[in-house]
Amino acid sequence: MYILAIDTSCDETSVAISNDRVILANIISSQVNLHIEWGGVVPSIAQRAHTERIEPAIKEALKRAGLTIEEIDAFAVTYGPGLAIALEVGIRKAKELASTYSKPLVAVNHMAGHVYANLASTKTGKSSINNLDFPTLALLVSGNHTEIVLMRNHLDFEILGATVDDAMGEAYDKVARMLNLGYPGGPIVADLADQGDQSAFKFPIPMKQSGDLNFSFSGLKTAVLYTIRDLKTLNGGELTKDQVVDIAASFQAAAFQAIIGKLITAVKQYQPKQIILGGGVMANTQFRKAIRNAVKPYAISLSYPNLKKLCTDNAAMIAIAAYYQLKAGDVVKDIENLDRDPAAHL
Ligand code: KG4
Ligand code: ZN
Repeated sequence: MYILAIDTSCDETSVAISNDRVILANIISSQVNLHIEWGGVVPSIAQRAHTERIEPAIKEALKRAGLTIEEIDAFAVTYGPGLAIALEVGIRKAKELASTYSKPLVAVNHMAGHVYANLASTKTGKSSINNLDFPTLALLVSGNHTEIVLMRNHLDFEILGATVDDAMGEAYDKVARMLNLGYPGGPIVADLADQGDQSAFKFPIPMKQSGDLNFSFSGLKTAVLYTIRDLKTLNGGELTKDQVVDIAASFQAAAFQAIIGKLITAVKQYQPKQIILGGGVMANTQFRKAIRNAVKPYAISLSYPNLKKLCTDNAAMIAIAAYYQLKAGDVVKDIENLDRDPAAHL
């Protein structure tokens, strides 16, 4: 079954084509350069860029996949969560395609896409996992979401814990801004953290004692802010290179501990057969390594998307989720009335 999927939820215009679980094309047109001078994603700029780029991305995806649009069996699109006016661009295009070619349309939750990215297979058959083994625990960490999700079945999501304020990716981006490192901050802070001493600063581990599975990053962020302010005062307004890398490393270590502590609590409570990771922050190899070490004693299979490109936003993950939705008969009944849901929950 050939599926063409579109994701325009944030600042990547992405179109992918899959054959069941096999990714034939995954075009990602990044807008980072357009947003860089603003230090974050500007919705109106994103909307304009999506509108300009969507058609060429569809053409390029078909070319890479070696297919014509008539050969596509179903269309899929992210309906939320994401930026309303950005989501609208993909939805409009997907509706138009499904209507023109009289094919089913599948509406996919972006976070479900981050889960199902784990099941994507390359053309040579490489895949992180071939099946979900229930109960599955999914840890999703992206720019806007930090969630521990329990799955007892395909497409059956129970959110066990989530961030009460900032998402972890957002915290990375904000720390990058405090250190004047640019945007998007995650990869930059992660690279600097590799060079720093994580025990240099004692930052609080957020909500360690909260007794539930929720997260919070605002206290950690404030602690980083005050540390930078105090060091600058002592240093005549500047931070040394060593201080910058040590702050990055100490911040990252506290953030990892916050997530991993809750993940282990969830593991003990729900005894999953499998843990799967998803979302942009999972592109961080140190994070994956720390998680792998922490779950080792529990002998549970651990999976993350087999390519970095499948961790950050992409439409291939939407195509894979759509494949499972199609198998379950979950298609849009009233195509004209499909609407975006910027705050969609799993
Ligand atoms: O999943 P994603 O691409 O978009 C959303 O759905 O939000 O996640 C983007 C987030 C950004 O906050 C970015 O800074 C962060 O993922 N990120 C990273 C890394 N790569 C991307 N954070 C830490 N380390 C990385 N290597
Ligand atoms: Zn995402």
